[in-house]
Amino acid sequence: MKTAIVTGAASGIGLAIAKKFAENGYQVYGMSRRETGPSFENFTYISGDISNTADRERLVAAAGKVDVLVNSAGVAPKVRADLLDMTEESYDYCMDINTRGAFFLTQLVAKKMLENEEINGIRGYICSVSSISAYTSSVNRGEYCISKAGLSMVTQLFADRLAEYGIPVNEVRPGIIATDMTSKVQGKYDDLIAGGLLPISRWGQPEDIAAAVWTLCNGSLPYMTGQVINTDGGFHLRRL
Ligand SMILES: NC(=O)c1ccc[n+]([C@@H]2O[C@H](COP(=O)([O-])OP(=O)(O)OC[C@H]3O[C@@H](n4cnc5c(N)ncnc54)[C@H](OP(=O)(O)O)[C@@H]3O)[C@@H](O)[C@H]2O)c1
Repeated sequence: MKTAIVTGAASGIGLAIAKKFAENGYQVYGMSRRETGPSFENFTYISGDISNTADRERLVAAAGKVDVLVNSAGVAPKVRADLLDMTEESYDYCMDINTRGAFFLTQLVAKKMLENEEINGIRGYICSVSSISAYTSSVNRGEYCISKAGLSMVTQLFADRLAEYGIPVNEVRPGIIATDMTSKVQGKYDDLIAGGLLPISRWGQPEDIAAAVWTLCNGSLPYMTGQVINTDGGFHLRRL
């Protein structure tokens, strides 16, 4: 049985990704900070914080062999504050989880994946869930934007470093997705979508992102690494 690690698996996008892999016969190990997580077949929930070294090690040890890593855990700033008022605490909070945590978990898993047997040129797949915020300025949550731009470079770096070992590293870049993270600002995004922000004029669903991650990691695209899949209803298009 193949094994997948999915961070942020307790809710939203991470949960949809965990379900997708579990339904397709993977044993999935999911981590979020809350004490109790979801329960379903082929899924093991581990409570922990990916910004914490010992918790990352515990997650990887529990999984044993790792065929797929999906970095989906992420946080928005606790308070949306203007760029001129952003605190160091809020900056560190976003960077520690969204960028540093994902980097060092990827590093740990990559070393483990190198022990995997190479089958048809592949030892494993790594995919990170970044955001349109990697390239879109939002001056009331700049720390989130910086952390996601950093995560995109984490993808590129590991894609470069691990290509020769048969480990493709790619990125899915969600747009506006209906989850706990966006529920607090639902009215704002309802209005923007109704006003024509997105070529595909609807909220994205966690399953839309899970489908993209699954396609990148299921073996159907082995000659692709360092790729960004915009899964955003066309938000990234420049329109006139
Ligand atoms: N929703 C959107 O519109 C959207 C758009 C672009 C990108 N994204 C990205 O998609 C990813 C998933 O977000 P979501 O929208 O599904 O929101 P969500 O439901 O809030 O999911 C985030 C998950 O990450 C977990 N998490 C947060 N910090 C963690 C940590 N330090 N260690 C382990 N787990 C942690 C959370 O659980 P705990 O709180 O229990 O730890 C939660 O399960 C995030 O990286 C987010 O930035 C979302």
